[in-house]
Amino acid sequence: MTLNSRSFRLAKSGDSLALARRDGPTPKPGLRQVLMRLGAASLNYRDLLTLQDPNSNGDGLIPLSDGAGTVVAVGTEVTRWKEGDRVSPNFFPDWRGGAFSLAYLARALGGGQTDGVLSDYIVADEASLVEVAAHLTLAEAATLPCAGVTAWHTLFERGALQPGETVLVQGTGGVALFGLQLAHAHGARVIVTSSSDAKLDRARALGAWQTINYRTTPDWEKLAMDYTDGKGVDHILELGGPETYDRSIAAVAAGGSIAQIGVLTGFALRPDIRPLQFRNASIHGICVGSVEHFERLNRFVATHRIRPVIDEHFAFDEAPAAYEHLKAAGHFGKLVVDFV
Ligand SMILES: NC(=O)c1ccc[n+]([C@@H]2O[C@H](COP(=O)([O-])OP(=O)(O)OC[C@H]3O[C@@H](n4cnc5c(N)ncnc54)[C@H](OP(=O)(O)O)[C@@H]3O)[C@@H](O)[C@H]2O)c1
Repeated sequence: MTLNSRSFRLAKSGDSLALARRDGPTPKPGLRQVLMRLGAASLNYRDLLTLQDPNSNGDGLIPLSDGAGTVVAVGTEVTRWKEGDRVSPNFFPDWRGGAFSLAYLARALGGGQTDGVLSDYIVADEASLVEVAAHLTLAEAATLPCAGVTAWHTLFERGALQPGETVLVQGTGGVALFGLQLAHAHGARVIVTSSSDAKLDRARALGAWQTINYRTTPDWEKLAMDYTDGKGVDHILELGGPETYDRSIAAVAAGGSIAQIGVLTGFALRPDIRPLQFRNASIHGICVGSVEHFERLNRFVATHRIRPVIDEHFAFDEAPAAYEHLKAAGHFGKLVVDFV
């Protein structure tokens, strides 16, 4: 048997997991499935959490949820795609639209139970795929499925963002920069926090309205109130967790919302949410998004010619180094693995 599909899989290594190269045969698409050749994949903080989880059952799993590639074969009943189409699989292959179901969680790509995209060839259900926007490279498109869709779902599907409203994003990683780019393109005013003045300069070049260094100004919520003339921020993308939540609650506007998205500072979250009632403010729990969300994101990205920010490219065999880069958190935007 020829092993002509390069793959990395997670393999037990002490208390956590490590990446191990395990090539295999090219899979075959079922009746309504598509065989994709990956052009690029991107990393998310979640991939680090999966690798480091001491209780993970991911041994043997192909990691990474986010990729883009080209259709190379289709099952006999496929109607939506043909050879040569450029496509991306949705993070939740089963969440096509409508309300979320807990049943979708187990099939999230590259998570505990379902293989992801760090492989030359994958098969995907035809209805779980979206078309890559024409102006994007496959590397750029590969950054969208988790971070891009999460920011879109938060701001436009749940947040109903309006031009002129204020948005705050925490840090300059994937979700934060998509939040910045999408909201700025829609005419919103975006406040970005970061540990680095150099990254804040780059955020301003992308359209940030105000920037705050959360290392030199730990009580950034006060500055956020000042910048909004004491009104507070309409939409906050809560990415930090324990070290940021109380500040987000203090900075949210009356009638505004906090999107519960991230855990960058850990899991021991015990915020005092009482102030929210006096502001008629909300918390929205967000978990990535549906195929329909992804399609609407792609239309917006195409209309506004948005180009995702890629900090660094890695060759396929350098995937372990890409994880190390993500862990070091020096990146601005996304880290991509190219399948050349
Ligand atoms: N719920 C969902 O659907 C969903 C989807 C995607 C991601 N997430 C979660 O969202 C978070 C962000 O994910 P990501 O992939 O975008 O991460 P990422 O690209 O790895 O972002 C890392 C950046 O976060 C910033 N950061 C760290 N601690 C911070 C703090 N205390 N305050 C503000 N910023 C801080 C740093 O930015 P600076 O260097 O600029 O300081 C760091 O470079 C993660 O917790 C991830 O698990 C959730």
